[in-house]
Amino acid sequence: MEYVTLNNGVQMPKLGYGVYQTPLEETARCVLEAMEIGYRSIDTAQAYGNEAGVGRALEESGLHREELFLTTKIWISNAGYEKAKASIAASLEKLRTNYIDLLLIHQPFGDYYGSYRAMEEAWRAGTVRAIGVSNFYPDRYLDLTHFAEIPPAVNQVEMHVFQQQKTARTYLEQHNTQIMSWGPFAEGRNDYFRNPVLNAVGKAYGKTAAQVALRFLLQSGAVVIPKSTHKERMEENFQVFDFTLSEEDMVRIEALDKAKSLFFAHDDPAVVEWFLSRG
Ligand SMILES: NC(=O)c1ccc[n+]([C@@H]2O[C@H](COP(=O)([O-])OP(=O)(O)OC[C@H]3O[C@@H](n4cnc5c(N)ncnc54)[C@H](OP(=O)(O)O)[C@@H]3O)[C@@H](O)[C@H]2O)c1
Repeated sequence: MEYVTLNNGVQMPKLGYGVYQTPLEETARCVLEAMEIGYRSIDTAQAYGNEAGVGRALEESGLHREELFLTTKIWISNAGYEKAKASIAASLEKLRTNYIDLLLIHQPFGDYYGSYRAMEEAWRAGTVRAIGVSNFYPDRYLDLTHFAEIPPAVNQVEMHVFQQQKTARTYLEQHNTQIMSWGPFAEGRNDYFRNPVLNAVGKAYGKTAAQVALRFLLQSGAVVIPKSTHKERMEENFQVFDFTLSEEDMVRIEALDKAKSLFFAHDDPAVVEWFLSRG
């Protein structure tokens, strides 16, 4: 496994395993299979309703806690200092651990400044090794970073070959925040796995479109956390450190960028209202 060093010195695996939309009853099985393959970083969230499944897998795996890197996220309904603080304690309990490696604010809505204070406090207390944000685009990211005592170590945003986040990346680089890609396959949208460019590039390396996409994101400086409930796909997605895309192939894939979300825009008022209604 390769690692990135976050802005506070913490080492994080460049490749992890995501469990969004994995039902609670399937989560432990999926995470245990991922761990057997070699994944050591797991990305969950309070809103996924499956932290307890991750915790069960952690316990059943027999791995030492230090061998694993656990990420979870505070949901909008837990925004604000007091609620965020209580939610961190609840996440620790569900994850069956006494520390979280990376704790993120899931969405930039509600009293997330209060949440961030609770996260800074947890970091000082040692129950969290690194803190950061998710879905904070340049306006909100810059404001929070200016306000925070501890700069965000990570910003987890939608990032795949069709949304390469070039603008956001320039700001994250300026403030030494690691970009983490969510939806590295855009959940299969836009006929992702049959994309002619990804497949043509892959042919030259004996790799699949999925592997080429992950490799492209890694070489672009992102941490990736692909999700699959199928073991053979988890294996496939793990085999991305034994080849390097040429400069020419990187440029070909860069040309796929539409610089637009395939999901929703966080600054669309209808989207903001939708998120607030889920708080
Ligand atoms: N912070 C946020 O707001 C946010 C939002 C979304 C996601 N995330 C995180 O990012 C992780 C990854 O994103 P995601 O789960 O939304 O989507 P994704 O990883 O882009 O795509 C997952 C989809 O691709 C399929 N798939 C996976 N590997 C494949 C392969 N090699 N060949 C063909 N199909 C494949 C999966 O199917 P099967 O499962 O059926 O194999 C699933 O339908 C999440 O699990 C979560 O941890 C965070």
